[in-house]
Amino acid sequence: MLTTVSKYLDQHADRFLEELKEFLRIPTVSADPECKPHLIRGAEFVYKQLADLGMKAEIVPTAGHPIVYAEWLGAPGAPTVMVYGHYDVQPPDPLDLWTTPPFEPTVRDGKLYARGATDDKGQVFTHIKSAEAWLKTVGKLPVNLKYVIEGEEEVGSRNLEDFLAARKESLSCDVAVVSDTSQYAPNQPAITYGLRGILAVEVTVTGPKKDLHSGVFGGAVMNPATGLARMIASLHDDHGRVRIPGFYDAVQPLSDAERQQFLDLNFDEAAFKAELGISEVFGEEGFTTLERRWARPTCEVNGLVSGYTGVGPKTIVPSKATVKITCRLVPTQDPHQLTEALHQYLKAQCPPSLSFEFTSYHGCPAFVFDPNSPYIEAAAEAIREAWGVQQVRLIREGGSIPVVQTFKDVLGVDTLLLGWGQNTDNLHSPNEHFSIADFHRGTKASASLWAKLAAMQGDGSAASAANVC
Ligand code: BES
Ligand code: ZN
Repeated sequence: MLTTVSKYLDQHADRFLEELKEFLRIPTVSADPECKPHLIRGAEFVYKQLADLGMKAEIVPTAGHPIVYAEWLGAPGAPTVMVYGHYDVQPPDPLDLWTTPPFEPTVRDGKLYARGATDDKGQVFTHIKSAEAWLKTVGKLPVNLKYVIEGEEEVGSRNLEDFLAARKESLSCDVAVVSDTSQYAPNQPAITYGLRGILAVEVTVTGPKKDLHSGVFGGAVMNPATGLARMIASLHDDHGRVRIPGFYDAVQPLSDAERQQFLDLNFDEAAFKAELGISEVFGEEGFTTLERRWARPTCEVNGLVSGYTGVGPKTIVPSKATVKITCRLVPTQDPHQLTEALHQYLKAQCPPSLSFEFTSYHGCPAFVFDPNSPYIEAAAEAIREAWGVQQVRLIREGGSIPVVQTFKDVLGVDTLLLGWGQNTDNLHSPNEHFSIADFHRGTKASASLWAKLAAMQGDGSAASAANVC
């Protein structure tokens, strides 16, 4: 990368951090209808960042939260790169576990703490600041850039596909770049070539029409909390396998080569257990922890509510019980088909005296990208340069980013998943943070990536595959 660009990123690093803090102060919780005005402010913040760089930018309203679109097309003949990110964040709850409030960004020990710091405001910001550095020094970028920054990723990207389909022609590009994943470990940057898919549902079972005195009525009616607990318990067998009929039918087994590749990453299970505060790992029998996290399907309870949850005792039989469930999916499981299979299975398990209500929220399939693509080599070179390391790991991850499959289906392009964060950044948890050093290196890797992708045009490759493993 040009030294002027790199220097600009160094000289303006403090200001970038202040601007990121301003972004993080906006509580853009997409799941919370009360945050709607804040999501609009979040979109306006992103719009202004891009428009101030002279890009053609717009805020596109959707049935949900707005999408920010911006483009810089001043490099005719050079590749066109789609940058995707999200400005929405997960709910900050439980609030009492935050050391400093989630929407008051605070620096401690070289880390910036706030909801969205790593997922995804801090990460997406690196791709805005890298463009700024090129435009303010060289006056132009080596590639054409199209930005799609949405506000509904954390609730399943439900309006994004229509946006992409409606603008299919004007959004055409060569490759997409997304920084919304993690490094393999501190100072071990990685390119992610696979993500799990997801399906998300909620089930409510109802017994008596109101809460009842458990002494007067208990023992004579089915308790909805007990009934739901039995239904949930029926989701897994004693070997950690999911019991929904047909659940594993479409699962592609891992090849021996890929299993070996996972083993070669020398996953540190002791450190993993210590980090999470658990005494034993747990999961589907016959698979390693990395396989369970990256390449096997799961069924998880995300939330469970029934009866009295306040302080002290209360003697009731609750009227209702609700569970939120997500399944993580792997190639080639179908989210729609499995949502229906889950629906039918739980309905069949529901005690006859309870009424059953099922809501499907969202779903997306798993995504696996060709790890031998020349784009991966170009990205690896940019990351090696920014991190000053010899090796960039090739990994899969267990989270989901619904748009990557849509990019493939609608625009026909692959996505480079370049994570600058860490799995230990507390994403979706209290005290989410992003290392300031990773933020800074992310801006450098992004700036370098534009040059590496531009250089690929000639010979179709930019780096040696030997550096990627
Ligand atoms: N950044 C995450 C996805 C992620 C995290 C991928 C870590 C790999 C490693 C993303 O913002 C996210 O949380 N996505 C949701 C998607 C869902 C709500 C459709 C997820 O995975 O739960
Ligand atoms: Zn997330």
